[in-house]
Amino acid sequence: MQAGAAAAIEELAGQLAQTHKLVVCTGAGVSAESGVPTFRDASSGLWAKYDPMTLATPEAFARDPLLVWNWYLHRRRQVDALAPNPGHTAIAELQGILNEVVVVTQNVDGLHRRAGSRTVLELHGTLYGTKRFHDGHKVDYRWPGDLTDFEFTQDSLPRCPDTGELLRPDIVWFGEALDSVTLSQAFMHARSADCVIVAGTSGVVYPAAAVPEEALQLGVYTAEINPDETELARRADAYIALPSGVALPQIVARVKQLRGRR
Ligand code: OAD
Repeated sequence: MQAGAAAAIEELAGQLAQTHKLVVCTGAGVSAESGVPTFRDASSGLWAKYDPMTLATPEAFARDPLLVWNWYLHRRRQVDALAPNPGHTAIAELQGILNEVVVVTQNVDGLHRRAGSRTVLELHGTLYGTKRFHDGHKVDYRWPGDLTDFEFTQDSLPRCPDTGELLRPDIVWFGEALDSVTLSQAFMHARSADCVIVAGTSGVVYPAAAVPEEALQLGVYTAEINPDETELARRADAYIALPSGVALPQIVARVKQLRGRR
């Protein structure tokens, strides 16, 4: 390991040993080591001929809900077949060490929850949720138990059990605003944290990128984990130039030592 990374891990672990409330802001990089395809790479196999940008819009859904639903079913199957990686697990493990840990993620893959994180704000929605198309009201859809050979048909598209209206994936599509309650909770938590860790995000997509940015400007201790130096990394209190699945388990192990746990 580079001396710089080792020193930065020590620095962040020292901060975490005294932290009560931690907010971890994550992006696609945290899921990279689980093998989650990037949005663009998700179009494999039969879906290779479709540009995801033309499927992830309300207009596409209004035009052809069957096509859009089967694309999301394909993405969900891809993610179902994968597992959380040591980065996700380390974040979840911090819950047993610090008083409060809030995950603010741009990822829609549900891997933080599967790793055991309990407070997860999914800024861009989730592949596992559904809401009514016309008014955005969240409604649970009862998925078939085995999705292996399942495909939606016009007659089996997800519908609201109360109104019969079409349900859509609970994902923030191009041209749409983020859920304002979820976003304001993310800002509120980041403002009141003792430490914010930013991991696996390029920090260029707003408003998600504004959450750690505001915390940094308010003087909250902010650390970045990303093999590629981002703009925020240059101003953060600590910058660890390693993959999150490598850095986070080392950080957690060191925090446990500093807090006198095994
Ligand atoms: P990006 O693809 O923009 O950035 C991923 C970041 O992860 C890059 O900075 C990589 O250097 C870093 N990275 C790669 N592997 C890593 C690893 N193993 N550990 C740590 N970092 C690693 O992804 P996001 O910032 O998440 O929006 O992009 C945000 C949004 O752009 C997505 O949520 C999506 C997309 O448009 C919507 O769907 C609304």
